[in-house]
Amino acid sequence: MKVTIVGAGNVGATCADVISYRGIASEVVLLDIKEGFAEGKAMDIMQCATTTVFNTKVSGSTNDYSKTAGSDVVVITSGIPRKPGMTREELIGINAGIVKSVADNVLTHSPDAIIVVVSNPMDTMTYLTLKATGLPKNRVIGMGGALDSSRFKYFLSQALQKPGNDVQGMVIGGHGDTTMIPLTRLASYNGSPVANFLSQEEMDKVAASTMVGGATLTGLLGTSAWYAPGASVAYLVDSILNDQKRMIPCSVMLEGEYGQNDICIGVPCIIGKNGVEEIVDIKLNDTEKALFAKSAEAVRNMNADLKSVL
Ligand code: NAI
Ligand code: 2OP
Repeated sequence: MKVTIVGAGNVGATCADVISYRGIASEVVLLDIKEGFAEGKAMDIMQCATTTVFNTKVSGSTNDYSKTAGSDVVVITSGIPRKPGMTREELIGINAGIVKSVADNVLTHSPDAIIVVVSNPMDTMTYLTLKATGLPKNRVIGMGGALDSSRFKYFLSQALQKPGNDVQGMVIGGHGDTTMIPLTRLASYNGSPVANFLSQEEMDKVAASTMVGGATLTGLLGTSAWYAPGASVAYLVDSILNDQKRMIPCSVMLEGEYGQNDICIGVPCIIGKNGVEEIVDIKLNDTEKALFAKSAEAVRNMNADLKSVL
């Protein structure tokens, strides 16, 4: 199984590293526009093969898409971060141009690939990819909910003072500080609602920490995070390539599900070899439904900035 990762920066290279040492794919191609950068990252990862012990073949390419031919999954992490003085519309315009041309290039060489979109603003970039390529909706998946959920489970485990693996929880909605929805009511400690162990105040604090999880790390690191993002992409790619049919919150096109149409936003999905195989209705209560509708409105407003690109 072959995976191409476009953008060999922090998230792309970390994703390639996790896919390799966990043996998720037999081949990974890293591609970047910076001369020699992807080749260097690939060589560095390959020099781990005898110590972390893996057989995945990782190679790099400077913008030569012929090397990506026959990929089963393509991950798009290419883009630029927002710079001082730049408006959101300008950022969307630049990243939209990059994501659109990357999607066209990868599909020329891998017409059957499933595309995983990571570049921000992720929900809007996923919508753009779907509209610009005309691919069926099962083949375009935005990654954000997997990461936000892993942060939610981390903060829950800290509050509970219990191991993270014993905690279940999910974040849906947009992948943004104000648009994501940590589903505290449905979170559990080994099947027992977290409300049995945490006060309302503690649960509110967990939700608030989750929502600013990315921003907190950006403040600490000076750029956005990469270990958990890269690992979250690898987790999603694993479910596709190995047909695991895990339920993962992903940004996908909605056609009536959760009361929304013509929008890509985070909802629980069954992810397998066909990409998005099912959107799961987890029966939100009225409060959660209202939060979801508000989140969708914010994502839709951002999508409006795509009008010059689409
Ligand atoms: P980075 O700056 O480390 O890497 C981006 C790479 O893309 C650079 O190496 C750059 O040369 C490359 N690139 C730019 N234009 C390109 C093009 N046309 N073709 C090929 N490569 C190109 O950034 P980082 O930290 O890896 O983040 C990547 C993106 O992922 C950003 O948009 C970031 O906001 C987003 N992100 C999304 C997350 C999510 O959960 N959806 C989580 C973390 C980051
Ligand atoms: C993150 O959540 C900024 O999307 C990036 O870390």
